[in-house]
Amino acid sequence: MSSPLQRTLILLKPDAVGRGLIGEIISRIERKANWHIAAMDLRTLDVATLERHYAEHVGKPFFGSLVAFMSSGPSVAVIVEGEHVIEGVRLLAGRTNPLEAGPGTVRGDFASVTQENLIHASDSEESAEREIGIFFPSAVRRDARVPAVSAD
Ligand code: PPS
Repeated sequence: MSSPLQRTLILLKPDAVGRGLIGEIISRIERKANWHIAAMDLRTLDVATLERHYAEHVGKPFFGSLVAFMSSGPSVAVIVEGEHVIEGVRLLAGRTNPLEAGPGTVRGDFASVTQENLIHASDSEESAEREIGIFFPSAVRRDARVPAVSAD
């Protein structure tokens, strides 16, 4: 069973940064009761980092264009901590395809195509710890069940 007090890894993608939506999206997160920003960093992601982050999608038809898009400009990596924050941020983001994302969600309100869908959010506690290890190695918990860096 997942614990209510969690942390999650968010990426505000290059389209969010380029369109000036950092404040809009972070504001939605900050206003949520019992959530807070624990770390934040603006940087352009390199291909090696993206191949680690999106390892489960290597070989899928969209993988090449996803990596090209995600490395095309700066992103903002964020750790958010709080009650039920993993599921909560995914609900706040909306469905992957913005056309299926409801009004009031980030993607439903501001995106129109799947690739430029503004925000990534971890989908489980295991993914969150793995992804935090990629973007914020110093934030990895000593008792993390998932290794932050693969052995290879
Ligand atoms: S899958 O195949 O169902 O596991 O994929 P999904 O979980 O929906 O999406 C995984 C990430 O890939 C992005 N994605 C795409 N990018 C570009 N083009 C297409 N067609 C596409 N389909 C999915 C999607 O936004 C997910 O990225 P993140 O960063 O996790 O949102």
